[in-house]
Amino acid sequence: MSSKLWGGRFQKSAEKWVDEFGASISFDQELVLEDLEGSIAHVTMLGTTGILNQEEVVAIKKGLHTLQKKAEEEGLHYSIEQEDIHLNLEKMLIDIVGPVGGKLHTGRSRNDQVATDMHLFLKRHVKKTIALIISLQNTIIEKSKEHIETVAPGYTHLQRAQPISFAHHLMAYFWMLERDKSRFSESISRIDLSPLGAGALAGTTFPIDRELTANLLGFSDIYQNSIDAVSDRDFIIEFLSNSSMLMTHLSRLAEEIILWSSEEFRFIELDDSFSTGSSIMPQKKNPDMAELIRGKTGRVYGNLIGLLTVMKGLPLAYNKDLQEDKEGMFDTLHTITGSLRIFEGMIRTMNINKDSLNKAVHNDFSNATELADYLVTKGLPFREAHEITGKLVYYCIERSNFLLDLSLEEMQQASPLIESDVFKVLAPETAVRRRNSQGGTGFEEVRKQIEKAQDILSSL
Ligand code: ARG
Repeated sequence: MSSKLWGGRFQKSAEKWVDEFGASISFDQELVLEDLEGSIAHVTMLGTTGILNQEEVVAIKKGLHTLQKKAEEEGLHYSIEQEDIHLNLEKMLIDIVGPVGGKLHTGRSRNDQVATDMHLFLKRHVKKTIALIISLQNTIIEKSKEHIETVAPGYTHLQRAQPISFAHHLMAYFWMLERDKSRFSESISRIDLSPLGAGALAGTTFPIDRELTANLLGFSDIYQNSIDAVSDRDFIIEFLSNSSMLMTHLSRLAEEIILWSSEEFRFIELDDSFSTGSSIMPQKKNPDMAELIRGKTGRVYGNLIGLLTVMKGLPLAYNKDLQEDKEGMFDTLHTITGSLRIFEGMIRTMNINKDSLNKAVHNDFSNATELADYLVTKGLPFREAHEITGKLVYYCIERSNFLLDLSLEEMQQASPLIESDVFKVLAPETAVRRRNSQGGTGFEEVRKQIEKAQDILSSL
């Protein structure tokens, strides 16, 4: 004999360690509120359609509300024996309201039930994720506004390339996050579907009303195919994929923050509240939070690959393999939520070291393009201008100085077209100020860009 809710067909129970291996309650208890919400909608529909009588519906609902209140206020106690959140709650319901509780599962299977829970859960949390992205975007805008005219080295190949506005660099992340946000919001239309009523896989003989439960749960539509409804996990894969992309962006910024706060760069200083010390080296201030986010990105990618692999080759319809969709999803959600929150605080409180940035742009050749462009405006073909400038750069390297250290005579030896106005052109500030092509780093363009970004956020 088995004490399981499905035990009728069984002659003996599995051993405890086998139960433990199969159970999902240790992690799917995170779905408790969604599961109760789904059950309340289901039993309401069972009443409206006359499948259960009003007395039964009232009793079951009362029990479900009691559980809801308990779950919210003090938490419930789950047992491994009841395997998962669905069976645990059903057992608790029966304990509270008596055998009538056993009628709740009429016309429903755990297969459509778990899918419904996952849809409700993700829909809620993707919306929360979007709100967190917006908050980070706002912080990026605020920081950028303070540094429109802060000139910094811009890099390609991690070599100093051309001077840029520090705000321009930061704002690049605003736009990455903007795409992340739209990916998450577009995915909602595919999460916003009700699988409830699909039954185990084939629908049910009871005259259920799927539109009604979908409405009660706030879904915009229902799955059109019951087999697809119980076996689809695309919406979770999409969430993991969107999260992976988001983490890629956060990880790139994390890497820059780590570089920038090193002694070698000294471009920023993280606030003490987002740094940690070393247990042995008293001088250390480590950018641990940024490093952790860079590291956690690997976990999120792993969760994506994990679920893709679970799904490939899985025959229709429900298979227990699908229970493996949960831990990676919860873990990813906690990871992206935590990372977004940390990032918001880290960016808001970080100090930008203007002096170091200024020193950096005055001690490099990132104004070499300015000289080449200058010669072009004097009539030289760009290739010749490039060659002359390259020679001057080499001349400087041999003397351990930079273009702005040269005298007009030295420059004129390289090209008689060079006149005294060249010094102004070579100043890093001028180089940035003048790059006013659309979307460029010129201060005016960056101002426009920030306004546009603000318009986007305020139109939400
Ligand atoms: N715990 C299961 C899961 O997460 C619930 C669905 C179980 N259905 C079944 N027929 N065994 O997937």
